[in-house]
Amino acid sequence: MKKIAVFGATGSVGLQALSLLRENRDYELVCVSAYTNKMAIKKIIKKFDSIKAISLRDFIGVKNIHEHNNILDLFAYDFDYIINAVSGFAGLKITLKAIEENKIIFLANKESYVTAGKLINDLLKKYTQAKIFPLDSEHAGLFQLLKNEKSEDIKELIITASGGPFLNKSLDETKYVSYDEVFKHPTWTMGKKITIDSATMFNKALEIIEASNMFQTKNINVLVQPQSLVHAMLKFNDDSYKMSFSLPDMQQVISYFLNDCRFHSFFNQKNIDFSKMINFSLQAIDRERFIPIKLAFDAINSFNSKAISLNAANEVCVSAFIAKKIKFYQITEVVAEVYKNSVNKELKNYTEISKFHEAICQKTLLSIENI
Ligand SMILES: NC(=O)c1ccc[n+]([C@@H]2O[C@H](COP(=O)([O-])OP(=O)(O)OC[C@H]3O[C@@H](n4cnc5c(N)ncnc54)[C@H](OP(=O)(O)O)[C@@H]3O)[C@@H](O)[C@H]2O)c1
Repeated sequence: MKKIAVFGATGSVGLQALSLLRENRDYELVCVSAYTNKMAIKKIIKKFDSIKAISLRDFIGVKNIHEHNNILDLFAYDFDYIINAVSGFAGLKITLKAIEENKIIFLANKESYVTAGKLINDLLKKYTQAKIFPLDSEHAGLFQLLKNEKSEDIKELIITASGGPFLNKSLDETKYVSYDEVFKHPTWTMGKKITIDSATMFNKALEIIEASNMFQTKNINVLVQPQSLVHAMLKFNDDSYKMSFSLPDMQQVISYFLNDCRFHSFFNQKNIDFSKMINFSLQAIDRERFIPIKLAFDAINSFNSKAISLNAANEVCVSAFIAKKIKFYQITEVVAEVYKNSVNKELKNYTEISKFHEAICQKTLLSIENI
């Protein structure tokens, strides 16, 4: 039996992972974490009697379950596998601890590789039993496509973007979008933060940086694919392509990695209906319209302080947008300004990275106050 802990168990990815774990007899769920969602954790505990410990910000008092408000305390329990589906910068310390504990990590938290790519890659060389597998459709697609290919044959790694709900609006037109329109993603159902990030394209910006750090290349490109059917592509030296193609479904991605990188069937899987014509379009992204994409390509050619700035400023702006303190278009404006004014240097360890993250959060809050 493989023992597993799910961090961020109450979120969109966490819950999808749990529903797969319920049908997979190879795994025993030992620990789960959330932040504030007590009701959801209580429901999870009822469904999995194998859970020994939980982490939440506040204690909830559940019989026979150990509770911790320091999320890293869960590493005292016996498990070899973790799913890191915590959202935001808070996920980084979990990834780093998991590597140092030589765990097998199924990583949804994209902020880890965005903010600490070099640190993670260096730690993976030191803790050789630790492995990271990407729980994200684009990166999982690249992972699958790269199997059995020779790196010298590959010209470019390509990920796709749906373009979100405002793909066909000009930058100026996004000034007039309503609060509710931002949450209407055309092809995916996801958590609040990532849905907003998909509308601005900061999600894709983070994914570009994540892919660059994860696959250790700057030869990354991004194409718009509004139907979200194509997730990733390889472009070879002869200008031929290979693509990863399926209906958008995070469970498919999670299932692949939970099953030792095998294409197993799973309950509720979706199939493409080819009795209808399947159309998909692929197009380059206008980087002047989608400024986050321009910033991401700058960030992959810079030290990690730039990616940390982009991520921290965006996290603060997204929270301010949710609280209705700023308008949708101001997310991009504020992040771009903070990014431009941030230093370009390598921050080497968690202490340096988190201090810098905090400093950028404070600067961003000030920028928002001064609007
Ligand atoms: N959603 C997707 O389809 C998708 C796809 C690929 C990658 N991702 C990435 O996966 C990660 C999770 O995304 P999501 O959409 O599942 O997010 P989500 O629905 O917002 O869930 C986030 C989870 O993290 C917990 N959490 C939030 N802040 C925390 C903190 N400060 N400390 C500890 N735990 C905290 C939440 O607990 P509470 O419920 O108690 O707040 C929840 O369990 C993100 O990095 C995202 O970019 C998501």
